[in-house]
Amino acid sequence: MDDTRRLRNAFGAFATGVTVVTTKGPDGTDLGRTANSFSSVSLSPPMVLWSLARSSSSLAAFRDADHFAVHVLTADQADLSARFAGKDPDKFAGLAVDRGVADVPLLRDCTARFECRTVHRYDGGDHIIFVAEVCDHHHAPAPPLIFHGGAYGGLAPIGDAGG
Ligand SMILES: Cc1cc2nc3c(=O)[nH]c(=O)nc-3n(C[C@H](O)[C@H](O)[C@H](O)COP(=O)(O)O)c2cc1C
Repeated sequence: MDDTRRLRNAFGAFATGVTVVTTKGPDGTDLGRTANSFSSVSLSPPMVLWSLARSSSSLAAFRDADHFAVHVLTADQADLSARFAGKDPDKFAGLAVDRGVADVPLLRDCTARFECRTVHRYDGGDHIIFVAEVCDHHHAPAPPLIFHGGAYGGLAPIGDAGG
């Protein structure tokens, strides 16, 4: 096995949720990409981060945008994850969207959503790391979609963690 594959497998041991990050391109196009690099950062002020591959065809649009929205997917939204990770140029076809701050497209029926304003862009090797302030958020509790070892799954509760 080559080194990149071994590293990718090791990174994949870290189970994450799955998000779709959306923004409005400079030409008014709606853009979205599936991302599991999302992380909460700060409570006060509220801040989050995610990273995007420099190779992404949407890099310039996300880099230049002031605002984006993060949608945390539910266990029954694996199809939405695949859609926004795929090659179809019109990823929003047939989807109902609402409009958020700066006209950013908002997807429906996610378990959490964060409307954000980018405050820092950092070099992250072959990715760019976006750190953003949360302008608004919404939460509707639901079982989350999980990504682990390159595959989707759901939560398997292991009992009362106490506290
Ligand atoms: C579960 C999952 C998580 C992903 N997370 C990220 C991510 O955090 N950052 C990223 O740049 N791409 C991520 N991707 C890949 C992008 O969604 C997308 O497939 C890739 O950017 C395709 O290239 P394009 O942007 O040029 O169309 C992820 C894909 C999947 C299926």
